[in-house]
Amino acid sequence: MDTWCAAWDHGQLDALDAVLAEDYVRYSAANEQPLSRQQYKDQIREVRAAFPDLTTTVDALLLDGDQAAMFWHSVGTFSAPLHDVPPTGTVVTTRGSNVLTFRDGKIVREEVTWDASELLADVGLPSLKSAFEPEDVAAVVDSPANPGTPPREMLKAFNKQFITGVTVVATKDETGAPRGLALNSYVSVSLDPPLVLVCVQKTSSTYPALFRASHVGISIMSSTQGDALSVFSSKDKDKFSQVAWHEGPQGSPLIDDSAASLEIEIKERFQALTHTVFIGRVQYAESTEDAPILYKAGKFYDGRGLQQL
Ligand SMILES: Cc1cc2nc3c(=O)[nH]c(=O)nc-3n(C[C@H](O)[C@H](O)[C@H](O)COP(=O)(O)O)c2cc1C
Repeated sequence: MDTWCAAWDHGQLDALDAVLAEDYVRYSAANEQPLSRQQYKDQIREVRAAFPDLTTTVDALLLDGDQAAMFWHSVGTFSAPLHDVPPTGTVVTTRGSNVLTFRDGKIVREEVTWDASELLADVGLPSLKSAFEPEDVAAVVDSPANPGTPPREMLKAFNKQFITGVTVVATKDETGAPRGLALNSYVSVSLDPPLVLVCVQKTSSTYPALFRASHVGISIMSSTQGDALSVFSSKDKDKFSQVAWHEGPQGSPLIDDSAASLEIEIKERFQALTHTVFIGRVQYAESTEDAPILYKAGKFYDGRGLQQL
């Protein structure tokens, strides 16, 4: 078992050749197809790159004829991206058990009750695999009213009819610098418990900071904050030097003079291909009677003087 720890903890992958048969196969919930010896080495390399300080302890080893059961736990810091998931800097402990089958003194088969997604569940990520496959997204039933219209265009036409406010969603990065972006995908999920969601594109430069954040600020832009909105819709490197802001109780950046602000604690991070849906529990709120900026079909409107139906 020293070889096994050497491979996982020190990256000595070729040492595995001494204990794994050439036709070794590894079965686990994480992989639809069993892994070969080489594919298993590649997987170790990937996990070790994300958790460079990984240490593994074999807690128990039970032998029974040509089979063995091994119970283990590993501890590591999530320090570099794993697939498309940014690192959180969190120390994670994960446990598993493997059933090994031997032939001529070498392991030919391994069945594993652990996969990398369980490791990431500890840092708040339910699954490494996205909840959606690209083909699911394309599978939209053709509309009799607009036959042949591509799904993307149908959705754009739908969205054009939806009026929203605009928020600035912000947090601090690992250096303590404030980072934020303009966002209209805010939804109030439930009042009791007080949950809200926001949806962030993974290519946003703010995304890695948001992904590792425990707390996030959400400020609704007021009708007089067009300039601040332009800043946060941009890719400017230093957005917060151009606006006045203050901190929520947990340090999340909130924009001064906004129509209302929340500070939330992140509870869930759902993967939706190009975007991540963050669900947070409200911990702090500020509100005013100031009218918000409105957004419809790519244009902004003054929320003052709205006519009630
Ligand atoms: C009205 C409006 C709504 C937006 N909504 C979102 C959104 O819901 N999610 C998102 O990821 N980006 C959204 N954006 C785009 C980002 O604000 C924009 O890409 C920004 O430049 C990202 O900055 P960053 O890369 O520095 O984080 C929105 C932009 C505007 C103008």
